[in-house]
Amino acid sequence: CAIPSAVRFPGVAIHLAEPRMGRTRRAFLARLALSKGFRVMDAYSSEVTHVVMEQTSPEEAICWLESRAAPPPGCNRPVLLDISWFTESMAAGQPVPVEARHHLEVAVPRKGLPSPVWMPPYACQRPTPLTHHNTILSEALEMLAEAAGFEGSEGRLLSFCRAASVLKALPGPITYLSQLEGLPHFGEHSCRVIQELLEHGVCEEVEKVRLSERYQSMKLFTQIFGVGVRTADRWYREGLRTLDDVQKQVQRLTQQQKAGLQHYQDLSTPVQRSDAEALQQVVEAAVGHTLPGATVTLAGGFRRGKLQGHDVDFLITHPQEGQEAGLLPRVMSYLKQQGLVLYHQHQHQHQHGHSGDPTHLPPRSHTMDTFERSFCIFRLPRPPGAAVGGTQRPCPSWKAVRVDLVVAPISQFPFALLGWTGSKHFERELRRFSRKERGLWLNSHGLFDPEQKAVFQVAAEEDIFRHLGLTYLPPEQRNA
Ligand code: CTP
Ligand code: MN
Ligand code: MN
Repeated sequence: CAIPSAVRFPGVAIHLAEPRMGRTRRAFLARLALSKGFRVMDAYSSEVTHVVMEQTSPEEAICWLESRAAPPPGCNRPVLLDISWFTESMAAGQPVPVEARHHLEVAVPRKGLPSPVWMPPYACQRPTPLTHHNTILSEALEMLAEAAGFEGSEGRLLSFCRAASVLKALPGPITYLSQLEGLPHFGEHSCRVIQELLEHGVCEEVEKVRLSERYQSMKLFTQIFGVGVRTADRWYREGLRTLDDVQKQVQRLTQQQKAGLQHYQDLSTPVQRSDAEALQQVVEAAVGHTLPGATVTLAGGFRRGKLQGHDVDFLITHPQEGQEAGLLPRVMSYLKQQGLVLYHQHQHQHQHGHSGDPTHLPPRSHTMDTFERSFCIFRLPRPPGAAVGGTQRPCPSWKAVRVDLVVAPISQFPFALLGWTGSKHFERELRRFSRKERGLWLNSHGLFDPEQKAVFQVAAEEDIFRHLGLTYLPPEQRNA
């Protein structure tokens, strides 16, 4: 697919709501916004970030929004704005930060929580379901976490992630600030964000970040396969802002980044569960053909029950220890022969990898495991008749999908499965809990007791929780 000509403000998708605006004026305003590089969505959808209305009261605005379908889990609810925000943004030639006066929202009192709620401090000590009651609040904090990560502020990233994760585990919605009392990880900053959201429906800091050039470019760049924060930051400091800018420097890109850019459009479209299931069949066939008896297990977000993801993660093993050695290159070449692989980067097993001893890991990669793995882009045929886009150009017969394949020997399989199921924050918390509360070192290879100099033998994920003195949490409850 061709790279779309860069939208100037990819984080903003405006929907002009018609009730009091009138068709002609609406069409005029839409053309104006498009001419200035804004995205204008004709139909209201979960992609919309800013709903703009004219001569509409906050009550009417809320009714309008509530009569629409609720956004799917993981999607933000849009902000409801008065035309003044739109007019000012057009005059400025860019989205202006959303201020309280632009808002068309009133705090709707909702049924509160039975307080106080007791919440254990580590995310691995409490169930966290996929959908919860505080999405707007947790997403605001997660955006600040992400932005802190873009600035290399690891400490701030962790603070915001921990606070957001607490909100996800609550049994009901936060409607009053006082409900935060006694909850772990709510520092002054996170409390202030929640207070603003409860009082004004929006937090100025969050909106400023969302609309900032820095955040938008860093988000755009880090979304390219093979581009991390460090690369994105360097590009930003060199003045790059759009995918076109990156494309102009194509000779500097790694093979992985080139592939990421080439398939940017497909890879930035969420992978559906049905895609993951189709891919599992393809991978199972290749693995079964290469080594009868070897198994393929779906891990990552889909194992936690997510309906969409940014990739599909598979773990491969064989019930007989050692049989899995050398399997991955053969599986990959079989898949390549079938024309199913658009890109793959094979990573050989680290030289100490098979020892399973977490102390053997190189110091900087304590979060990285050393399994043999392949980060790939698959060419997934679309099921016949799956026309997306309707009236527009004909839909290609395939799409590019990111796939991670990881091979683990059976003795380490439960650790690998636990480590590759996520969420990322859940894993981080589990390792921190092990280290700080139990004095044990956990990673995707094993659980190590540094005093006894011994590793634990396990047969299943349940055994790992038991060794750590934690109540078992099924994958669906690890969405921390
Ligand atoms: N992981 C890992 N080592 C890596 C990459 C990922 O151990 N080099 C782990 C992550 O910690 C996470 C899991 O693999 O627990 C899945 O990672 P990822 O695919 O990035 O995230 P998902 O939770 O699957 O989310 P998404 O749906 O966006 O893919
Ligand atoms: Mn994943
Ligand atoms: Mn992955």
